[in-house]
Amino acid sequence: MTAIETRYAEQHPASNELGVKANGLFPEGVTHVSRQMAPFPVYMERGSGPRKWDVDGNEYIDFKTGHGSMILGQAHPAIVDAVQTQMANGSHLSSGSRFEIDWAEAVIRLVPSVEKVRFVSSGTEALMMAFKMARVHSGKEKIVKFTGAFHGWSDPAYVTDPETDRQYGIPRGTSDSMINVAPHDLDGLDQLLSSRNDVAAVVFQGNDIARPEFITGLRDVTKKHDTLLIFDEVVSGFRWSKAGCQGRFGVEPDLSAFAKILAGGLPGGCVGGRADIVDTVGTGGIRHPGTFNANPLSAAAGSTALKILESEAIVETAEKQAVRLRDGINRVLNSMEIPGGAYGVSSIVMVSLGAAVDTNDPYAVPDGVEQGGRPVASDVLDQLQLAIINEGLWTHPASMILSATHSDGDIDDTVSRYEAGLQQVRSAGLI
Ligand SMILES: Cc1ncc(COP(=O)(O)O)c(C=O)c1O
Repeated sequence: MTAIETRYAEQHPASNELGVKANGLFPEGVTHVSRQMAPFPVYMERGSGPRKWDVDGNEYIDFKTGHGSMILGQAHPAIVDAVQTQMANGSHLSSGSRFEIDWAEAVIRLVPSVEKVRFVSSGTEALMMAFKMARVHSGKEKIVKFTGAFHGWSDPAYVTDPETDRQYGIPRGTSDSMINVAPHDLDGLDQLLSSRNDVAAVVFQGNDIARPEFITGLRDVTKKHDTLLIFDEVVSGFRWSKAGCQGRFGVEPDLSAFAKILAGGLPGGCVGGRADIVDTVGTGGIRHPGTFNANPLSAAAGSTALKILESEAIVETAEKQAVRLRDGINRVLNSMEIPGGAYGVSSIVMVSLGAAVDTNDPYAVPDGVEQGGRPVASDVLDQLQLAIINEGLWTHPASMILSATHSDGDIDDTVSRYEAGLQQVRSAGLI
C-alpha cells in the first residue's frame, strides 16, 4: 500500500467494511460504473448544500453533485418540503398530477424550442425515446452520433464498433441502425448526409466542449439535408444556460432530451421539442407506458427546482464559482510547474494533468486529446483521487461539477485541498 492508500484506509474503516460486503453483492462491488474505486469506494450518508458526510463521519466539499443533477445543492429546503409533502399524500397515485402540468409548463417556458414534452424516468430513456420519435416522424432508420459521445447506456446509444458492440450485448440490427461520425467535423457530417437518404436524425451531446460555430453549424447542415437535430441536454440542460446548450449558443434543435437537473435530484427525464414530432407518441404510432413517468415525487421535485432556477441566479452563480475554481487550480498547476490546466464550459471544471491546454481559449481542450482526456497515467490519477478525498474533496480530480451553493470560501478551500493532494502525489514521486 502507498502512503496515500494507508491514510485512506485509516480514515474510512466503515466504508471499507461496506465495500467488502458490496463485493459479494454487486458486479465490481458497485451500482454505477463510475462509483468504482480501489481499494474500496467511499459510502456517503448525508449532504447539505455543497457538503457531504460519509459513513465514517468525514466531511467533504462536493463536486460530484449527484452526477450533475444537484445544481441547487443537497437537501435544498424547498425541494425537501415539496417531496415530503407529496410523500405524505401518496407517492404514486396511478394518475396524472398537478405537478406534472407545472413541470411541463416550466420546461416549455425555459426552453424556446420545446412546444410539447413527454416525461420518462432517466436520461437514457429520454434519448431512447428521442431516437424513436425521430424514426417514426421521418420514416427513416439511421441515427448519426459523434464518436465518443455519451448518450446513456441503451443499446443504440452505446454503438461503437462491431467487436465492442458484441461484447456489450448489442444486436447486429441495432449496430446497423447507428452511424458514428468524427466529432467536430461539419464537413464530414455534410458529406455523410449528402451521400445517404436514410438518416432520421443527428444527435449532439450538449456538454461536449465544441466551438460555437460547430454547434450552430449543426443546425445549418441538418436543415440543408432535411434531417432532424436532437440535442442531448441531460448534463447541459438548465446548466449551460436556463435553456441549456441550445440557449447558450442560440440553436433550435427539433428535439431535446433532458434529465438530471430537470428532476430536482430525483429520477426523471423528458423529451421535448416540436409538437408534430413529440406527437408521434399516441396516435402517431408510439405506445409509451412507464410506471414511474412523471411520478408525483419527481414531478414535485422537478417543478420546484425549475421554478427556483427560473427566478434565481442559479446558473450564473454556479458558473461564476466554476471560473473561480478554474483560475485557482490553474494558479496551483503553474506554481507547481505541472503541465496541463483547468478548462471547460459553464459550471463544469475539467482538469488536464500532463497535457497542455490553452486556458485563455474558452473552447480549448488539451492538445491531442478530446475532452475528458487524461494524459497522466490512470494510476497516478487514482492516487490523486484518493489523496484529495483524504483532504475532504468529493470529486474526480479531472472533472468537477459545481452547484450554486458553493461559496467563495468553499472554492478557495477546494483549491488548497487540491494542492495538498497534488503535493502528496508529488512526494510519492508520481507527478
Ligand atoms: C450526456 C448524457 N446523456 C445521457 C445520460 C444518461 O442519463 P441517465 O444516467 O439519467 O440515464 C448521461 C448520464 O450521465 C449523460 O451524461
